[in-house]
Amino acid sequence: MTELKERVATLHQLLHQYNYEYHVQDNPSVPDAEYDKLLAELIEIEAAHPEFKSSNSPTVRIGGQAQSTFNKVRHDTPMLSLGNAFNEEDLRRFDQRVREAVGSVTYMCELKIDGLAVSLKYVDGAFVQGLTRGDGTTGEDITENLKTIYAIPLTLERPISFEVRGEAYMPRKSFLKLNEIKEQNDEQPFANPRNAAAGSLRQLDSKLAAERKLDIFLYSINDFTELDATSQSEALAELDGLGFKTNPERREVASIEEVLEYIAYWTDHRTALPYDIDGIVIKVNAIEHQEEMGFTQKSPRWAIAYKFPAEEVVSKLLDIELSIGRTGVVTPTAVLEPVRVAGTTVSRASLHNEDLIHEKDIRIGDSVVVKKAGDIIPEVVRVVLERRPEHAETYHMPTHCPSCGHELVRIEGEVALRCINPKCQAQLVEGLIHFVSRQAMNIDGLGTKIIEQLYHNELIRDVADIFQLTKDDLLPLERMGEKKADNLLSAIEASKQQSLEHLLFGLGIRHLGVKASQVLAEKYETMTRLMSVTEAELTEIHDVGEKLAQSFVTYMANEDIKALIEKLQSRGVNMTYTGEKLSEVEGHPEFHGKTIVLTGKLQQMTRSEAGQWLKRQGAKVTSSVTKSTDLVIAGTDAGSKLTKAESLGTPIWDEQTFIDKQNAMREE
Ligand code: IVH
Repeated sequence: MTELKERVATLHQLLHQYNYEYHVQDNPSVPDAEYDKLLAELIEIEAAHPEFKSSNSPTVRIGGQAQSTFNKVRHDTPMLSLGNAFNEEDLRRFDQRVREAVGSVTYMCELKIDGLAVSLKYVDGAFVQGLTRGDGTTGEDITENLKTIYAIPLTLERPISFEVRGEAYMPRKSFLKLNEIKEQNDEQPFANPRNAAAGSLRQLDSKLAAERKLDIFLYSINDFTELDATSQSEALAELDGLGFKTNPERREVASIEEVLEYIAYWTDHRTALPYDIDGIVIKVNAIEHQEEMGFTQKSPRWAIAYKFPAEEVVSKLLDIELSIGRTGVVTPTAVLEPVRVAGTTVSRASLHNEDLIHEKDIRIGDSVVVKKAGDIIPEVVRVVLERRPEHAETYHMPTHCPSCGHELVRIEGEVALRCINPKCQAQLVEGLIHFVSRQAMNIDGLGTKIIEQLYHNELIRDVADIFQLTKDDLLPLERMGEKKADNLLSAIEASKQQSLEHLLFGLGIRHLGVKASQVLAEKYETMTRLMSVTEAELTEIHDVGEKLAQSFVTYMANEDIKALIEKLQSRGVNMTYTGEKLSEVEGHPEFHGKTIVLTGKLQQMTRSEAGQWLKRQGAKVTSSVTKSTDLVIAGTDAGSKLTKAESLGTPIWDEQTFIDKQNAMREE
């Protein structure tokens, strides 16, 4: 037995050494097969003698038991973020603040790795716990997944206890390979390496995490008591000595000029790195100076993150496509030659309206500069005039609706062109899509594609037809199976019970938004009463303006609408208010009772203004994204919260969507 025990110790030691040489030093001394052979031997011994298993055995690298959830753990010291600099001026101001506070300094310049911040805890030299950043105060325990990252030492060269932080990331090569496999399996590929890394670290089954070749660079230490370092450069060197992987591209510099040089260098050379970076981090080097400067609520005063400008690429404008919305508004969309920008392939970008097209003088055939606003939404920045083809003509919106041929009108005071034909097919389809949407009847599984097919197969002509669909109608549709058809039919059945305000909103009455639908349904309680309400009566209601009152009464007086409502009723759709009486509550039902997270940098308001506004609407504004988060509003540079929301499938709005929503509410 002692012999076996010794063998186990030797295997641990050898595997540890080979692993370090390969993954941290990038300089293996034995062929891969040697490592694999020794690991297989250890796995076999552990299987036969479970008493030799240990939580930091090299065998944990391959993953273990799947977990059901990740425990939430409070950070010993909060994980802060960094203030941002976007240009030279911001950096010079930072430098000035630093020198005013502590005199002359040297800076440590580091690459800002585009991954996920994690915190690793060691006790007596053993890796005991690894956490995500979470909301900065509380993170999730992803120890088992982190152990599968070979560059994280499971035991240290010295038996010290401390916490070290760094960035876990997916090298580009692993990312490309992973997406290749995903595509082969007909699965949705990840948008970029950071999302892929986030998705991997959130695997409850660490065996799956182990398949996703992640890596890590460590960059900060929390508590210096057990270390000798007196500066960031020494701290990184000490981390190296302990067996950690730190980024070799760091550079200590003596002035802001040199910082700018370092930035210029990496701006040009970043694409040659085997991993993504999204900026440069500049840190005051001496720990003593760092301590003197201290922290704000959110970030250290002694460091700043320079963010690279949003990536701009050139593509070709192949066409301008027009789409007709539910209310007849015609929106132009740029159809682009597919091009990769900021991690995804872009082939379309909204052009918003004709005015914008003329302002930027965008013409079909032009080479155009494309970027992602807030790193999310594709946008045409400008035209490359030098490359304009000879005969490119100024673009004009059509005079007639591309769907129904009816003349388009420009309503006074609006930039938008509108098709005012109530029988316009494109509008009808959009109206159907609106009817089943979340805020309206909320029929899960009835998406745009299915609606379009049903409409074009003449299976639905109006919203009431939805309630008459049969399995035989559904089965011939593309990508429809027995199970999906059954689920869809039960979702349709369930939606019949929706309270009146959902139906009202779903009908798509002009100027009637979510809030007014709620107010009207609650006040009048039945569709019958709403059908005979007068304009005068309506305008007396606080939340109902003249425009709405008028459009509502006109709508209800229409014979076709009366017939439609009757048809809906005869097909079992509920026509009464069954919701709670919310009259006591102020605020907008669209946000009322919702749990909302704000993240990233907002341009047109501060986050706290946005938060206060949401609270006035009855929303709960929280700081961390969880399963119970209803909505994430993300500004630019949104980090882990956005990633988390993406991985959870939480609805995400950008700032403009939020502002549009606020404006729409004001119009209601
Ligand atoms: S230092 C107090 N150094 O960038 C925060 N951060 O907002 C200390 N990051 O959350 C962070 N590379 O995830 C630091 N070399 C580096 C970094 C780095 C990437 C990330 C980190 C942090 C975010 C800054």
